Order: sequence, then structure tokens, then C-alpha cells
Amino acid sequence: MDLPASNLTTSSDLGPVILALPKGRILKELGPVLARAGITPAADCMNEDSRRLRFETTDPGLDVVRVRSFDVATFVAHGAAQIGVCGADVLMEFDYPEIYAPLDLGIGGCRISVAAPKGLAEEEDSSRWSRITVASKYPGIARKHYAQRGIQAEIVHLNGAMELAPALGLSKVIVDLVDTGSTLRANGLVETEVIAHVTSRLIVNRTALKTRPEEIAGWINRFRAALAA
Ligand code: PRP
Repeated sequence: MDLPASNLTTSSDLGPVILALPKGRILKELGPVLARAGITPAADCMNEDSRRLRFETTDPGLDVVRVRSFDVATFVAHGAAQIGVCGADVLMEFDYPEIYAPLDLGIGGCRISVAAPKGLAEEEDSSRWSRITVASKYPGIARKHYAQRGIQAEIVHLNGAMELAPALGLSKVIVDLVDTGSTLRANGLVETEVIAHVTSRLIVNRTALKTRPEEIAGWINRFRAALAA
């Protein structure tokens, strides 16, 4: 039996698809990708001085929210945003089963590395360590990295400025993102191990992919075409 039209849920009843974008350096690199995908958010979306957090686009079926990079994954995992852009570092840290990451956008290239004070890196043989203190905003990645080496890691969880930790006695080493290396150099640290290379991914909530398949697949295809362009 057919349901009356009023009982059918259509895409427009669900409101616009929400695309979560990360604040900061990735947002700048994303501008050209969005343009090639035909996504034009309100002008103040790309201006980080704007206090607005949600922005309409020229397509009534898509709104953009601008959040911290770690929070992009949280919004998408919980279905508050259906799609998003976030670094492979964040996906590695949380490993959310609800998130599907179909596309490497090839932007935001950097690495997650171990860094240590210059003197320590020269004087000590890290293969002889059995315990270590590590400051990081990636406790999961840091713990796993050292567990694989049979080293017991005590993690000091910081949200930023972890380059300060070794000199102030908070940790022996840090695990952090390295791009140009200038933050490490400016703080007397050297990169000692690369844990993983990182780029930004298009991510999708798996439930949204099932409940709004045409819309979500449509947006994935727009990003895919933008990469091919
Ligand atoms: C990241 C990272 C380093 C810095 C590395 O911080 O935590 O501090 O960039 O970049 P570099 O190798 O080019 O110096 P970010 O600027 O993303 O800010 P955050 O501390 O808020 O994460």
C-alpha cells in the first residue's frame, strides 16, 4: 500500500546537507577545491574574523559549518554534519566506525612525527628506552606508536603549544604535526621519527549515506570531479 504523500520523508524535509570544514590553514587550501566543486559559501565563511559559525551556500541544499579540525570528525561521526573535510591525523586518532572517508583531497600535506630536544636526540639511543613521557594532542596515536615498540608511554594530553613541554620538564618528547618544521626549530626541537604522512580527506557519515544516498553521493561526486579538474 502506498503511504500518503504527507508521510513520506523527502530530502528537502531533512533540511540542507551540512558540510563541516576545519578552521585554520586547511580552510585556505580548501577555497580552490570548493570552487572547482561548484560550492560557493557566503563570503564571510572564508574570513576567520567572522564570528558566524554556520553559512549558507548558493545551493539551498548545502550549508557549511566552520569548526576546529578535531571537531569536524565529531560532528560527522554523530551525524550533526553529513559530510566534512578533516585530516587523516584526526581519523587515525579517533578511528570512528561511523565515518567513511572516500576521497583523499591531496591538500593539507604534513606529517605526524616524534620530536625531541636537539641534545637528547643526539645523546640518547631511543631503542633502549623502556618508558617515556610524551606530550601530544594525539594520545591514541602516541600510545599506539610506542606500544608497537614495546615502550610504555605516559601521555600528557595537551591541546596546543606542546613544543614547550620538553624544555619545561613536562615530557621527554612530543608527538605533533610537522609541516614546514619552523615551529620545532623555533623551540629547539628536532624531528626524530615520522609516524605517518597526513593529507585531508572528504569524510561522510555512513548513516547519511544510506538515508540520503542521492544527495550524499552527489556531493562526493562533485568533490571527485573537482580533484580531476
Ligand atoms: C600545528 C602543529 C605545530 C605546527 C607545525 O599547529 O601543532 O605547532 O602546526 O607547523 P610547522 O611545521 O609549519 O611549523 P597549528 O598551527 O595547526 O595550530 P594548533 O596548535 O592550534 O593545532
